[in-house]
Amino acid sequence: MHHYTRTLKLFCLAILLCLLFQPAMAQKTPVSRLSSSDSIKIETLLSKMTLDEKLGQLSLFASDWDVTGPILNSNYKQLIRDGKVGAILNAYTVDFVKPLQKMAVEESRLKIPLIFGYDVIHGHRTIFPIPLGQAASWDLLSIEKAEQISAMEASAEGINWTFAPMVDIARDPRWGRVSEGAGEDTWLGCRIAEARVRGFQGKGYADGRHVLACVKHFAAYGAPLGGRDYNTVDISSVSLYETYLPPYKACIDAGVATLMTSFNEINGVPSTANRWLLTDLLRKEWGFRGFVVTDYLSINQMVNHGNAADVKDAASLAMNSGVDMDMMGSAFLEHIPALLKEKKVKIADIDEAVRRILTTKIQLGLFDDPYRFCNKQREQTEIMTKESLDFARKLVAESCVLLKNDHQTLPVPASVKTIAVIGPLGDTKKEMLGNWIAAGQWEKCVSLLDGIRNKCGDKVRVIYEKGCAINDNELSGIDAAVKAAGEADFVLLALGEGGEMSGEAASRTSIELPGVQNQLAAAVVKTGKPTAVVLFNGRPLAISYLNDIAPAILETWFGGTQAGNGIADVLFGDVNPSGKITMSFPRNTGQIPVFYNCKNTGRPFNPDGPKDKYVSQYLDCPNTPLYPFGYGLSYTSFSYSGIKAVVVGNTITITSNVTNTGDRDGEEIVQLYIQDKVGSITRPLKELKGFKKLLIRKGDTVSVSFTLTAADLAFYHPDLKKYWEPGEFNAFVGGSSDKVISAPFKL
Ligand code: BGC
Repeated sequence: MHHYTRTLKLFCLAILLCLLFQPAMAQKTPVSRLSSSDSIKIETLLSKMTLDEKLGQLSLFASDWDVTGPILNSNYKQLIRDGKVGAILNAYTVDFVKPLQKMAVEESRLKIPLIFGYDVIHGHRTIFPIPLGQAASWDLLSIEKAEQISAMEASAEGINWTFAPMVDIARDPRWGRVSEGAGEDTWLGCRIAEARVRGFQGKGYADGRHVLACVKHFAAYGAPLGGRDYNTVDISSVSLYETYLPPYKACIDAGVATLMTSFNEINGVPSTANRWLLTDLLRKEWGFRGFVVTDYLSINQMVNHGNAADVKDAASLAMNSGVDMDMMGSAFLEHIPALLKEKKVKIADIDEAVRRILTTKIQLGLFDDPYRFCNKQREQTEIMTKESLDFARKLVAESCVLLKNDHQTLPVPASVKTIAVIGPLGDTKKEMLGNWIAAGQWEKCVSLLDGIRNKCGDKVRVIYEKGCAINDNELSGIDAAVKAAGEADFVLLALGEGGEMSGEAASRTSIELPGVQNQLAAAVVKTGKPTAVVLFNGRPLAISYLNDIAPAILETWFGGTQAGNGIADVLFGDVNPSGKITMSFPRNTGQIPVFYNCKNTGRPFNPDGPKDKYVSQYLDCPNTPLYPFGYGLSYTSFSYSGIKAVVVGNTITITSNVTNTGDRDGEEIVQLYIQDKVGSITRPLKELKGFKKLLIRKGDTVSVSFTLTAADLAFYHPDLKKYWEPGEFNAFVGGSSDKVISAPFKL
């Protein structure tokens, strides 16, 4: 009996320990846990800190080196000396950062080093394609490598914290920030988000060549009404859990060090004041152990939202919901002392936030060497290396998506003697960077024209005409463009948006080609010369007209430093394009939102059925997008056959053959979708559950196999519990969400 009681006690203790450590075990933190001496160091420091010094650690201010938003308090140097700053944003280069760090560790009373943050969104000096472009490569290793290079370059120039990845799922291309994300799909968004965290953070920061990542913007910032940036978000709980939350969670599970709140509200509560979001879900349920920073001034902006009477009230809401660091608002610094006296906030919460920030500084190694991210020699040798530039070029080519290619217009035939590059995006280095350009220098970019000239050498004559501006009404340049087309035997028509037409605060109500570019295209195509459009843009565009008239269209996004070279590799066939879009391109702006994983509705439209008025459709436009999620052509072609779905127990194995039916080797992104035919909650028509990117030699057939378990079929229910329901399913395999072969299975 005695023995039995002891065993029972031990058993209970073991369960208790498991429960206690469960969140920690679930998180794959890349950095080692704090040693007891580090914990003692933090507690000792904490015991010496005045309230102002504590609040200083919780405050992030911008330097005057770069500007990414409004500045309320420009006296950052004095604040550093006074110990009233925990981190600085928008400062880089060793020469600029080191003196600021010196101020902190030599002139402030407690000599606590600063963290330096920056928006390294798609490269630091070597700029890679915009994130939406990188996503189109579906190459998780390349995406991870791009972030690794970004971290290496940023950390050589004083930065140890990037405000990335942005993992906001978005279905409305009017929203300019779709350029910073991975597109419309949650499952793919999760995989890309994890890859980016791995790339930035590596296995820790011990090598000084990685940086803290910051997953943003928590949560659902990608769903502003009407696609207007900063607008209200209003979504159902099921859709929040199913569509929007998983990529943030994926980053937490990948060990992301920090998290940024979002500007928007959820259920009427701005994220920065949302205790359910920042404490109950993030900390208690998900086990997040890093620190939470607000978005830029988002505490102060709660006065505008109307959930706080004044900034003091907002500071109290933010502190009580679980915010650790105030970005740019001075709200904690200015108002927490009074709030504490009034017992509206607790010192224990302030101390806990300070602990989190000091812990991060220890993990970065800043207490051992505050200048470990300020290495002049690394700044000389690790930035824009040949290897990084070569990789950037490869990623540009991998991100390109061939949207149309009638009569094999592309690649540019070897017989071509004169090429006319025409259009407002043809000879610009500046626009190649897109938005969020970090420390990228446009002078070092390769324009499309440079890239074509580099490729052709003196074998081909390359002429250029601008034709029109990106975004005005001037038609006078079109005649010269038509003349240039007349002189050439191949035309590359460089059209699209300017780099700043997407990104933050860059929403558009019409996402057609801006200005008079359609007129330019019409005039040039009318010459009858073989023409390929090279498209530059930060979001899906509504280009039905262009699609109607142009024989070939290559989507190139904004490729960054090596844009022109990487695009030329694809245009001339040195690289066979393999990218697939991760966000549907609507036929026109009015069709938005249009995305692949939609529901059937009670009155679905059947394009093959009899004409019926009372179905879900528009009178003036088909329901399908112009180009669907997962779509992208190759210079070769692929066919799919022999799909099978075999169920053994709770495991489903789906196999299919894929044949390269063309006359070139090529890479294909083979996609797996699932449909749950009947659910207690209506299910999407298709949901991506896997993909494989494969090189298939011409004429070869390969067998592709995917394994799913029942857990992969789980979905959220109204009680927000996630589980799967037995029944009938369809498995689909194909090279695009709209071109698939299918096999049913039961589980
Ligand atoms: C953006 C964030 C960014 C921050 C700092 C904000 O306006 O929403 O994404 O990280 O500025 O530049």
